[in-house]
Amino acid sequence: MTPAQRAAELRRQLEEHNYRYYVLDAPVISDAEYDRLFDELKRLEERHPELRTPDSPTQRVGGAPRAEFKPVRHRVPMLSLRKCNDEGELRDFDRRVRETLGRQTIDYTAEPKFDGLAVALIYEHGVLTTGATRGDGETGEDVTENLKTIRAIPLRLRGEAPPLVEIRGEVYLPLAGFRRWQEEAEARGEKPPVNPRNAAAGSLRQLDPAITARRPLAFSAYEVGESRGWQAPARHSQALEQIRRWGLPVSPLIELVRGVEACLDYFARMQRRRAQLPFDIDGVVFKLDEFAARAELGAVSREPRWAVAYKFPAEEAETVVENVEFQVSRTGALNPVARLKPVFVGGATVSNATLHNLDEIARKDVRIGDHVIVRRAGDVIPELVRVLAEKRPRHARAVQVPRQCPVCGARVEREEGEVNARCTNGLSCPAQLLGALAHFVSRRAMDIDGLGEKLLTQLIERGWVKSAADLYALTAERLAGLERMGEKSAAKLVAALEASKQTTLERFLYALGIPEVGEATARDLARHFGDLDSLIAAARADAATAHAEREKDRCPRLREVPEVGPVVAARIAHFFTEPRNLEVIARLREAGVRWPQAAPRAASGALAGKSFVITGTLPGVSRDEASALIEAHGGKVTGSVSSKTDYLLAGEAPGSKLAKAEQLNVPVIGWDELQKMLDRGSE
Ligand code: IVH
Repeated sequence: MTPAQRAAELRRQLEEHNYRYYVLDAPVISDAEYDRLFDELKRLEERHPELRTPDSPTQRVGGAPRAEFKPVRHRVPMLSLRKCNDEGELRDFDRRVRETLGRQTIDYTAEPKFDGLAVALIYEHGVLTTGATRGDGETGEDVTENLKTIRAIPLRLRGEAPPLVEIRGEVYLPLAGFRRWQEEAEARGEKPPVNPRNAAAGSLRQLDPAITARRPLAFSAYEVGESRGWQAPARHSQALEQIRRWGLPVSPLIELVRGVEACLDYFARMQRRRAQLPFDIDGVVFKLDEFAARAELGAVSREPRWAVAYKFPAEEAETVVENVEFQVSRTGALNPVARLKPVFVGGATVSNATLHNLDEIARKDVRIGDHVIVRRAGDVIPELVRVLAEKRPRHARAVQVPRQCPVCGARVEREEGEVNARCTNGLSCPAQLLGALAHFVSRRAMDIDGLGEKLLTQLIERGWVKSAADLYALTAERLAGLERMGEKSAAKLVAALEASKQTTLERFLYALGIPEVGEATARDLARHFGDLDSLIAAARADAATAHAEREKDRCPRLREVPEVGPVVAARIAHFFTEPRNLEVIARLREAGVRWPQAAPRAASGALAGKSFVITGTLPGVSRDEASALIEAHGGKVTGSVSSKTDYLLAGEAPGSKLAKAEQLNVPVIGWDELQKMLDRGSE
């Protein structure tokens, strides 16, 4: 092979890999292999400069720095988009289009509105010759050398290309690159970029292309501009297909939709997906699909009548903190909430924002009367982002932590290391009681249908329900007397209460609302102890050690449960020493709440009747997975080694259980031996 042939072959391969990477999103070689091919071509061109072509991938490193950008005139002006802000305005747009064209329904392409900057790429006989910014729409700047450094932009079109075609699209900076840049700038003490759009624009308008080359810019094509010797297809969606075949990236998020309802559906879907996308979009664009219809509609003052940008509502807005109040949660925590001057943000009016906890108030230095930025993105709870300290009025005052519970008036305390203050009144505080009951009846706990907060509030106010146990004493006659409660729904509720009595230990433990015990911990506790009385016994025995000087001496029994640390263990121990809690549990059991004994273990199987303890890290499996495997074959897994243990399954870095097993002569096996036992059992 001659050097010329090899250079051509390398160029072809590099282009192919670029295309697979950026357009098909399906690379077949590693970055290192790509670099190897690239280096070979570079060396070849250095030895034979005559082989260097303008469309060679080596030319992406960019030419020499320039003193200024040359102006480029756009023969077809680069228009901007008219905007609409809500559903009504989009419907108006669609109606005008339908009326002008005299049609029932319109086909639109629905596209993401990329938040970068528009550029025009001119390909002559398939080779990229000029790249320009939009500028004022008539004249832009020649940034060819900079655009060539963007690997997503092909230097040569694939397949057959016309004498001239101009592809328009957006240059943008993906979020990962933006964040990396921000971090690096901060580390170097430089000014970090404010947002991905500014960052992209700044990178592209660098006079030194070597700087642009270091920024991980991306490109997505969305229009054809000028063309010569090319028979454009009838529809924009077909043109996009052609652009893709030429080897330019076209977003897979672009869809062809029919009618305004489908447009609204697309908008809603994109709004939901937005947070997961690897780049910023600030709305969606709808464009008429048929070119003939576009021509019929024309443009007014730099904006075509055939397209519209539907922007996502701004997610941040400025408002004023009118007050800070405290809401009492089911565990008694006083959660601060900012009461705001109502403001329209993220598509809704917001008048409250969470402040999370007292530490957060201190960190953000929020004071009543402050001007603040609030954020509401999608369906998440509105949040106070930051205080505009420069606008702080003289009368602004600090947030006072209440000394009394705002609901029941009981004393409030804040323990060391806690981020929030707490009401000390337990379930005698109506707010805590309501929270506890709502949790108790919730779907993943006791799953009692028909007991919403309004009804629970009525039950609390009448004094009928003072704890979860009182729920089971409710009768249909009594319930039927309540507001908005018919006989039918009363009977239904009583039936739901009755049905809920059959539950599982893990659900019951979760329903109790033990602080720090979520579903996962409830499951671990149920698995480890098997029955409630063993758990209570361990918790009560541990309570005495909950404040032991050395952390490792605290709650040894509860901490045998995987994932239970000293803090959670102390909470559990405390919960089961409170007489009131034990009384409620006893009354619930009296009322008939029960759970079948710990899942009946398989009596057959390779490990039937054998008891295992697990310690250390097993190769490639979690402890839960290993437990499940053992249990599936009839074995039992417990937390501590005793004379009743049949095997200790030990992985990397075993703990003190190994010494215990050796002391008690319990056989120690590894993961491989367990596999062998299972294999033997299935023979
Ligand atoms: S089409 C008339 N499509 O929005 C056609 N533009 O306000 C105008 N943009 O300068 C361009 N995503 O920077 C089009 N899918 C998309 C777009 C898009 C973002 C930007 C582009 C343009 C501005 C127009």
